[in-house]
Amino acid sequence: MYTLFPSIKLQISSQNCAFLTSTILLNILIFLFLNRPTPPRPLPSTQFEFPDDCEFGKVYVYDLPPILNKDLLQSCNNSAEFWSSRCNDLSNGGFGPHATGLEHIVPQNLTPAWYWTDLYAGEVIYHKRILNYKCRTLNQDQATAFYIPFYVGLSIGKYLWLNHTANDIDSHSLAMLKWVKNQDPWKKRNGSHHFIMLGRLTWDFRRITPDSDNEWGTSLLNMPLMKKVLRLTPERNVWDEMEISVPYPNPFHPRSVSDIHQWQSVLRSKNRSNLFCFVGGARKYIKHDFRDLVLTYCKNESDSCRVVDCSVFPCYEGANATIATFLDSDFCLQPKGDGFTRRATFDCMLAGAIPVFFWKGSFENQYQWHLPTNSESYSVFIDNKDVRNDSTIIRRVLEKYNRDEVKKMRETIIDFMPKFLIATSDANLGSTKDAFDIAIEGVLRKFKQQNEDALKNN
Ligand SMILES: *[C@@H]1O[C@H](CO)[C@@H](O)[C@H](O)[C@H]1NC(C)=O
Ligand SMILES: *[C@@H]1O[C@H](CO)[C@@H](O)[C@H](O)[C@H]1NC(C)=O
Ligand SMILES: *[C@@H]1O[C@H](CO)[C@@H](O)[C@H](O)[C@H]1NC(C)=O
Ligand SMILES: *[C@@H]1O[C@H](CO)[C@@H](O)[C@H](O)[C@H]1NC(C)=O
Ligand SMILES: *[C@@H]1O[C@H](CO)[C@@H](O)[C@H](O)[C@H]1NC(C)=O
Ligand SMILES: *[C@@H]1O[C@H](CO)[C@@H](O)[C@H](O)[C@H]1NC(C)=O
Ligand SMILES: *[C@@H]1O[C@H](CO)[C@@H](O)[C@H](O)[C@H]1NC(C)=O
Repeated sequence: MYTLFPSIKLQISSQNCAFLTSTILLNILIFLFLNRPTPPRPLPSTQFEFPDDCEFGKVYVYDLPPILNKDLLQSCNNSAEFWSSRCNDLSNGGFGPHATGLEHIVPQNLTPAWYWTDLYAGEVIYHKRILNYKCRTLNQDQATAFYIPFYVGLSIGKYLWLNHTANDIDSHSLAMLKWVKNQDPWKKRNGSHHFIMLGRLTWDFRRITPDSDNEWGTSLLNMPLMKKVLRLTPERNVWDEMEISVPYPNPFHPRSVSDIHQWQSVLRSKNRSNLFCFVGGARKYIKHDFRDLVLTYCKNESDSCRVVDCSVFPCYEGANATIATFLDSDFCLQPKGDGFTRRATFDCMLAGAIPVFFWKGSFENQYQWHLPTNSESYSVFIDNKDVRNDSTIIRRVLEKYNRDEVKKMRETIIDFMPKFLIATSDANLGSTKDAFDIAIEGVLRKFKQQNEDALKNN
């Protein structure tokens, strides 16, 4: 992953004081907010009536107190916080700033569909999309699923690297549960048929010790009220049945089916000059860092491997170079990052390159609704232990694939590509389903099945 919010490392201690003050203020605000009378629900402005298209039912989207979503976005504007870079990252409905420097990479008429989208922007993007979803209902009694548009990743993002207390980092999560448990649909179902999007990897929401100030993350997912709430996340805990992984957001947000088709044909006709490539940074502070090994190996094999070294070149600023690199390679090396999965895997496939994994956890039991179960049809697996023993195995394995085999795998990726794209919220994709459509339809399908199973067992 190459956008780890570089600005966060700065200025922490000098701002602790302001930070603590604002935390206390925030808690007071949450308290005040939750204890004020609920405003009347706004009247529906549009009718969402597509009965024939919604065979699995409809979604009701809670109108949460803004402190749990919109205000978290707005607070990116608060110059008292070190956080201001997030404003740009989350602009344009979560897509981020319009991409630049694509003149020689993407056909000109497609460039407006490209953004420098942050890998953790899913909460904002899914919220915007679902408000415009064809199977959304404004009537709680007609809903099969209830969406809680809480920006929990944003709410903890600013605490993760700072000295904080368990209470700070959990404050918004606790406020959300306090609010939602008093809603009628929740009370009727005790939390089941509810779902949430986690913008970050599941590991950030699983602090084990309730009151530990030093352990990583919030304990949201270990709070008893969350037990029945289904979660979408870019990396799931494979032991947790209540979690579904959805593709990381990537830079291409098609406005129509023809945008998709045009990009697919660009990929088919592209001539690639490198057998493989690696985009990423080494982590010098980790002993025997596998990424460092891959990076060094790629530099050694410069006649067949193209490298973008993110520890030298700021990949989050020059994302065009990474796209150009993937577009010019048959395979891309995908060692694990913060988690087993990597956003770069999707950037790679978006450019029609074939991912090479070194850990089974990078693909097994992830993205089950979005990617083919037969991983060999679109990716290569080389065990990290074999690479550590002799890194030249990478080239030897990849060279064994002949032109036709490479082409076939690329074709597979190009075919399923719409399933990991996220279209604009006003796009009409006809019968094509993007990552969002598949995720929400999957949730509805799952809840419908639960209802049928419950009926059978009664
Ligand atoms: C940030 O503040 C400025 C000026 O107050 C405002 O125009 C802008 O819309 C704000 N941006 C966000 C993302 O809230
Ligand atoms: C990326 O964008 C920069 C700035 O626009 C440009 O100088 C550079 O050539 C671009 N890189 C590629 C690979 O197109
Ligand atoms: C974190 O804050 C606590 C309480 O303010 C303080 O006792 C502790 O020394 C701080 N830890 C670090 C690493 O700054
Ligand atoms: C509601 O769910 C919680 C957590 O799973 C459980 O402890 C509680 O017993 C449930 N209550 C009812 C009425 O089902
Ligand atoms: C790719 O290479 C083939 C054969 O060398 C050539 O005919 C074709 O025009 C090239 N395509 C592009 C897009 O450059
Ligand atoms: C890179 O090349 C050097 C010199 O040939 C060699 O000693 C080293 O083992 C190679 N490293 C990797 C990771 O391939
Ligand atoms: C390690 O690499 C060497 C050289 O490629 C090979 O002969 C040997 O079988 C490998 N060992 C293991 C345990 O894979």
